[in-house]
Amino acid sequence: MIPAHIYNDPEIFELERDRLFSRAWSFVAHESEVPNAGDYVVRHVLEDSFIVSRTSTGEVRVMFNMCLHRGMQVCRAEMGNASHFRCPYHGWSYRNDGRLAGLPFHQEAYGGEEGFKRKGQRLLSPPRVSTYNGLIFVSLDQGAPDLEDYLGDFKFYLDYYSKQSSSGVEVKGPQRWRIKANWKIGAENFAGDMYHTPQTHTSIVEIGLFREPKAEKRKDGTTYWAGNGGGTTYKLPPGSIEERLRYVGYPDEMIDRMKETWTQQQKDVVGEDGFMVSAASIFPNLSFVHNWPKVEDSDEVVPFISIRQWRPISADETEVLSWFMVDKEAPEEFKQLSYKAYVMSFGSTGMFEQDDVENWVSLTSTAGGSMAKRLLLNSRMGVKSDDSPVSPALTKDEYSGPGKVHVGYGEYSQRAFLNEWADHLERPEPEATDTEVGSSDSSTTQSQNTIAEPLNAG
Ligand code: FES
Ligand code: FE
Repeated sequence: MIPAHIYNDPEIFELERDRLFSRAWSFVAHESEVPNAGDYVVRHVLEDSFIVSRTSTGEVRVMFNMCLHRGMQVCRAEMGNASHFRCPYHGWSYRNDGRLAGLPFHQEAYGGEEGFKRKGQRLLSPPRVSTYNGLIFVSLDQGAPDLEDYLGDFKFYLDYYSKQSSSGVEVKGPQRWRIKANWKIGAENFAGDMYHTPQTHTSIVEIGLFREPKAEKRKDGTTYWAGNGGGTTYKLPPGSIEERLRYVGYPDEMIDRMKETWTQQQKDVVGEDGFMVSAASIFPNLSFVHNWPKVEDSDEVVPFISIRQWRPISADETEVLSWFMVDKEAPEEFKQLSYKAYVMSFGSTGMFEQDDVENWVSLTSTAGGSMAKRLLLNSRMGVKSDDSPVSPALTKDEYSGPGKVHVGYGEYSQRAFLNEWADHLERPEPEATDTEVGSSDSSTTQSQNTIAEPLNAG
């Protein structure tokens, strides 16, 4: 049972800041957003602003966007291309790898190099930076597990979205907007809520936008939780892997590349077991969606993939960042139609988006009142009164993928998400181990340099 007030409670939000977002891995950007030397984007983990930049030597760096002098935000644009960033306050300038390049009146104000050595000064790095399939994550906890361990078995599912060929994916966006809703609601919904589709999105199905005749078909799919993420799948009609991927709308050349890229086990979930990934979330606040609506006036469906981040602003407000994602090798015509499918479904004005947000804003507003403190929400879907599951977890013979997997409606993933959330909130916050003055060649800087290791080149 879930206390209803957790969806709009400033005290809970403080705990989330101190104990969850200070520790978990947070997505900041995809490498394809900064393809050329000098490209940068600015992203946030709660209030912390980070510059993600491609340096002149082709590495990706993530830097805390706060000037070493008096703390001004060094970069105020959201994205662009620059060899240097100049702080607007007093004019200190930094190379796009974070090294201090110059400062006005160095001699007069600081006594030159003798008084203040520029060499070795660089913008602070987040304690940990790592990538998976080009997705760049940071953790503010030096002691966080390695990203791949953190993702665990969810990597198996993440590949369906972010590795459809050996070239990987590219992203477009983000579209960015704010909703008066708590950040957890969207993350939970994408992690496992197949149950809302027949009700919330019934009109979309009725107007024939989707091939599936009935939204109730969602109960034939699965929910899964694996590693630090979970999601839902659709059940595909009988057929070979090729026929099933064609049913979703992929052209043959993309299907060939998927078959070359995915492991046998990944292929078996689609080709043998007949399931196709739909929405998913990586704990805490990065979600994915894969769907295949009809676009234009034809009966053909076109698949799209979108990633989105639920950036918490406060207990009752979330900034949504939403990207279109597509295989780099996909034909140009496919990319255009797929983008259209994304915009009309899950872009800021997308039909699904409008339906969902109406619910989440209303839920958040009610959760902020005093009666919500007395209410425990029913979150028991999928278990009987004796706590045995309504549909037992699938065995390896029935389903080839990892994780705990159930067919039909159930709130297994939402409970796994909230268990993870509660575990974080019950643990004391991680100790800040590396207070830095952004400074020079001291031993503390050595450790900073270690954590500031550049990501892969190119
Ligand atoms: Fe940046 Fe002074 S705060 S130069
Ligand atoms: Fe929805």
